[in-house]
Amino acid sequence: MKLFYNPASPFVRKVLITAIECGLEDRVQKHPLALTPVNANDDLNTQNPLGKIPALVLDDGSTLYDSRVICEYLNSLAGGKGSATLFPEGEDRWKALRLSACGDGICDAAVTVRYETFVRPEQYRWGDWIEGQKNKFRRAVAVLENEVAGFENTLDIGTISIAVALDYIDFRYADEAWRDSAGALAEWHKRFVQRPSFQQTAPHDLKS
Ligand code: BEZ
Repeated sequence: MKLFYNPASPFVRKVLITAIECGLEDRVQKHPLALTPVNANDDLNTQNPLGKIPALVLDDGSTLYDSRVICEYLNSLAGGKGSATLFPEGEDRWKALRLSACGDGICDAAVTVRYETFVRPEQYRWGDWIEGQKNKFRRAVAVLENEVAGFENTLDIGTISIAVALDYIDFRYADEAWRDSAGALAEWHKRFVQRPSFQQTAPHDLKS
């Protein structure tokens, strides 16, 4: 399988972590791309008309996107081998999917700000709008601080998505100091990201 990929993307990282946790990393061939909303890639656009990464080209030539779909597909391929399933059944499924949506939403807001501040020419930037996006992830962190006691040692798509999102805030917005008001979440995050799947995919050594 071929993964259209950029190591700085938190959505790509979530897919890579899922592949590692499912024991499938050797089956995923990484195809690096430098991509922004104004720097399209024809090869990617052919596979995903939305022009977004991650996109996973399967061995039969079909393509899966977005990260949510790819993660569930990888989990289904693993069929319970390796780690316990990352997509639980029953009531736990809704909890995992809601947490995953929260993590993805944090990343959506944080990546949007990244494009606004890194890609958009300075004279077109809008401070209030940037602040509005950052407030989305600040509110989410406050809610997660109240919920983190329920995470315990759960490894699923929900907890993976939250840990990836917090790492992305650290990576791109080191001055956010989210830990100051979220000590329990910070403790959980510190422990969780010790997993080899997180260590092997850490974006912190990337400069731009
Ligand atoms: C980043 O550099 O932060 C980034 C790169 C690709 C996709 C999303 C974010």
